[in-house]
Amino acid sequence: MSGAAGGVRIDHAVSSGTFSLDGETHQVDNNLWVVGDDTECVVIDAPHSVDDILALVGERTVRAILLTHAHDDHSRVAPALRERVVAPIMLHPDDKPLWDLTHLSEDGQGHLWDVDLGDGFEILVGGTVLRALHTPGHAPGAVCFHAPALGCVFTGDTLFQGGPGATGRSYSDEDVIKASIREKLLALPDETVVHTGHGDDTTIGAERAGLAG
Ligand SMILES: [Fe+2]
Repeated sequence: MSGAAGGVRIDHAVSSGTFSLDGETHQVDNNLWVVGDDTECVVIDAPHSVDDILALVGERTVRAILLTHAHDDHSRVAPALRERVVAPIMLHPDDKPLWDLTHLSEDGQGHLWDVDLGDGFEILVGGTVLRALHTPGHAPGAVCFHAPALGCVFTGDTLFQGGPGATGRSYSDEDVIKASIREKLLALPDETVVHTGHGDDTTIGAERAGLAG
């Protein structure tokens, strides 16, 4: 547990697996984030293991599976998780090319996500709002989830401790991620805690100096 407001808490764990793109496969550790109260929650990203996620969910009702983007190390088990918890998968539609790389089979059949996220889309869980911020760059449909009442933002691979996410692979753009961070994330208060897709937390204030240029 790493934060609470009005009965809403954030549960966190780390899940290990692989990330594949552009013909390379890397071993990666992904953060798991579950936000909710004692009765309901949302899951942010669905990396490597349904069981790792369900261990954080417990007996609670899952209202949504929120994807920060569709890279396989963030979305691979989303359809399998949906089967278990019967909750909609929400993704920004600009990530369809990346989603299809992981979830479309050779015959063109495959899983789809359920709800299109857009900038400003709000998800209510346990009386707390998570607001989607469309932050393209690492991926075209990359989204951050800002929880004002919790004083935090879930940034996926858009912002890490130490700077922006990687933009060296297909479907990424360095200028676009810098603009996204400047316009959407640096608009948040300095004390906002940044919960990342990989590695340690940071804050908007701690990252601001290195990003302002
Ligand atoms: Fe990624």
